[in-house]
Amino acid sequence: MSTSTINIGICGLGTVGQGVWKHIESNRAALESRLGVTLNLARASVRDLTKKRSVRIAASKFTTDPLSIATDPSIHIVCELIGGVTLAREVTLAALKAGKTVVSANKALLCKHGPELFAAARKHGGHFFFEASVAGGIPIIKALREGLVANRFKLIYGILNGTCNYILTRMEREGLSYQAILAEAKVLGYAEADESLDVEGWDTAHKASILAFLAHGTWVPVEKMLVEGITQITQADLAFARENGYAIKLLAVITREIDTGEVFVRVHPTLVPKTKVLANVNEVYNGISVTGDVVGETVYIGRGAGQDPTASAVISDIVDGVILLNRGNTHLPELAETRASLTPLQSITGRYYLRLEVKDEPGVLAKISGATAKLHVSIASVLQRPSDMPGAASLILTTHKSNEKAIRATITRLRRLSSVLGEPVLLRIADF
Ligand code: NAP
Ligand code: HSE
Repeated sequence: MSTSTINIGICGLGTVGQGVWKHIESNRAALESRLGVTLNLARASVRDLTKKRSVRIAASKFTTDPLSIATDPSIHIVCELIGGVTLAREVTLAALKAGKTVVSANKALLCKHGPELFAAARKHGGHFFFEASVAGGIPIIKALREGLVANRFKLIYGILNGTCNYILTRMEREGLSYQAILAEAKVLGYAEADESLDVEGWDTAHKASILAFLAHGTWVPVEKMLVEGITQITQADLAFARENGYAIKLLAVITREIDTGEVFVRVHPTLVPKTKVLANVNEVYNGISVTGDVVGETVYIGRGAGQDPTASAVISDIVDGVILLNRGNTHLPELAETRASLTPLQSITGRYYLRLEVKDEPGVLAKISGATAKLHVSIASVLQRPSDMPGAASLILTTHKSNEKAIRATITRLRRLSSVLGEPVLLRIADF
């Protein structure tokens, strides 16, 4: 089928949807001349018709029913920019079952229902694109799928959440609490509708799951990952990082043992040495390091959230969709899905940072070192600082190389000590 006018339906006209509309309008001449077609922004769906939008759209193009766009026979490309996993899944499946091309920015949906969506696209002859689902404007999906296809990937790690990086950067620079900055990240359109997805690490986990699938052909559900967010990070942790040559970044780390095929995906705040490129990726920017066995290390940096970078990625998928519609299937074959075992926790090794609020009394250090010794976790350094809690001290420990199983068991023991007040804060120290 070749068509000279491509009708596009935008389901969800919020931060991302309005950006897509705006930038297709503003770059229409260049896009159309490259593609040799007319791009017709035909319909848009919203929840609230009375809300003011930043783009001017004829009232006749609006609906509150995204399914009517997904099933409209005149629409060629449906953009699912609603978010969530319920209505978004219905809309995406309805469009795919009608043989349409669907472009999505929805990492949560892809992570939860990816195999079902790919199968529906295959069965009904449509296509499913998702460049905007990971790392905003960075074309990391294309890089893994196409540019780096010659490689096997031992290590991929990166900053995948713009909101968290924005919060950590501004906490570090301005000494503010994360709650104050989160409110700004929401206004700027960086945060998810449910911001706990950002700050508790789940959005990063969804993105890491997608990258792991693209790199290794296996879906690692978020429940099987180690996922920790940034809500426990305080100025005490940032001060330690600054004084010791680190930056704190929320990292996704995807490892694969090339010999055994074991995969592991984890998300946690990490002390990254300032000498590393990613330690210097700040504000809403994302950064991803991909090490391939053929290419070596490659690093990608760009804005990871917000209207414009996300629109850039969505429009690149629309362009790919138009090419497929008009020139036939020029894409690489899809990755075959495989099952991989997970690396056991005792094989996930590294050095650790632990901050404990403890009673400021004799014998506390001995009890703590007793707990770490029981699990063969060897302490590398101890620092005592004043605590915000009355009658308490803040203890910062770093460890020699240990493993996730031992450090988790250590934390369980430390929690049981009457001299340890509150929840221990654990950070990983990057050794990659
Ligand atoms: P958003 O600003 O909240 O926009 C959501 C849109 O969907 C709004 O137009 C909303 O209508 C509409 N909508 C929501 N629930 C609906 C319902 N029940 N029925 C009909 N319409 C409904 O969200 P966003 O930030 O644009 O994000 C959209 C998607 O892109 C999400 O999957 C998100 O994870 C992903 N994403 C976002 C970013 C970013 O930086 N914001 C970056 C990458 C990916 P109203 O406008 O009338 O409320
Ligand atoms: N809330 C997400 C972030 C949007 O802050 O990275 C981009 O996926």
